Amino acid sequence: MAGNAPAVIRLMSESLASKIAAGEVVERPASVVKELVENALDAAAAHIAVLCEEGGRRLIRVTDDGSGIGEADAPLLLVRHATSKIRDEEDLEAITTMGFRGEALSSIAAVARLRIRTRTRESVSGVEVRAEDGEVTIVEAGCAPGTTVEVRDLFHNTPARRKFLRTAGTEFGHVMETVRRAALAHADKSFRLVHGGKTVFNCPPSSLADRVARLMGEEVLEGMGEVDARAMGPKGLDIRGIVGRPELTYPAPKALYTYINGRPVRDRTVTRAVLDGYGGLVAAGRYPAAVIFIDMPPSEVDVNVHPAKTEVRLRDGSAVYRAVRAAVERALRRGGGGGGG
Ligand SMILES: Nc1ncnc2c1ncn2[C@@H]1O[C@H](COP(=O)(O)OP(=O)(O)OP(=O)(O)O)[C@@H](O)[C@H]1O
Ligand SMILES: [Mg+2]
Repeated sequence: MAGNAPAVIRLMSESLASKIAAGEVVERPASVVKELVENALDAAAAHIAVLCEEGGRRLIRVTDDGSGIGEADAPLLLVRHATSKIRDEEDLEAITTMGFRGEALSSIAAVARLRIRTRTRESVSGVEVRAEDGEVTIVEAGCAPGTTVEVRDLFHNTPARRKFLRTAGTEFGHVMETVRRAALAHADKSFRLVHGGKTVFNCPPSSLADRVARLMGEEVLEGMGEVDARAMGPKGLDIRGIVGRPELTYPAPKALYTYINGRPVRDRTVTRAVLDGYGGLVAAGRYPAAVIFIDMPPSEVDVNVHPAKTEVRLRDGSAVYRAVRAAVERALRRGGGGGGG
């Protein structure tokens, strides 16, 4: 601090504190979409629809047909650290859901106008929870079983953040990538994405191969080999997925989708393992198309590393490296880089 005056320490207001905390979770429209889609997945939805206007800056609406939220739980929805997903510290060692912090909805409510309509299958009517400028209202509402979350005017009350938003096109690009990542990991569920009234994609439940073809293009799929290393992983490691033709590469890992326990992650060890699995088939600095799912006991991975949960810490990175590399090598040998299947 300048001068000699001692600094004055003050406790900040609840509303300022929640806006700062929200900044960790919500960076742009795509982060909102990620949180809402993950909530829908945790609620065991079979159909998930995402609608955006102006790249999500003006409106994001996610509709699911999942479990819904009971009337009694509605008042807790927007309370920070309120979650149905974990109870005590032990649970933190064994997270099987996408969410666990009880922070997403409260963060979104701090920086946008939020409206949630939800109904459980058992309930005859639903509830509507609205949050605007720190005020929460809850009323009874007629709606289908499941949950619809509507987020309007993101960062309307945090101009510093709003300034950093890009054009609608750029923001929507991030949204689309977020939905694509989720849809690739859940081929058995339907995903629909609508932007500005136009359907961007509409994926019915399908096999992984069909989902890849629809979202990444037919040409990527052609000659792709399936990765299936269920039997070969030590420590309960299970590697599944699809590897693309080695001739089809990109200068960035944009078509390389990797997941750990269903969570999209960018991890250097995992990326390295995939590339080394391709070995000399792919030139240095080029990246193949692949969708790789790594499943392992939750105790083997710490997901509580990054506020957006895009990074994880592996307890035994070298075991994961070996298993992924071997699975990719095997799939490429079997597919012959041409066969597929
Ligand atoms: N689409 C949904 N369907 C059913 N319940 C939901 C849905 N979205 C949220 N909930 C309920 O609201 C709670 C709070 O959601 P929120 O996303 O804020 O926290 P979380 O998912 O528990 O943890 P995280 O902050 O890591 O996402 C959830 O624990 C869940 O019980
Ligand atoms: Mg959540």
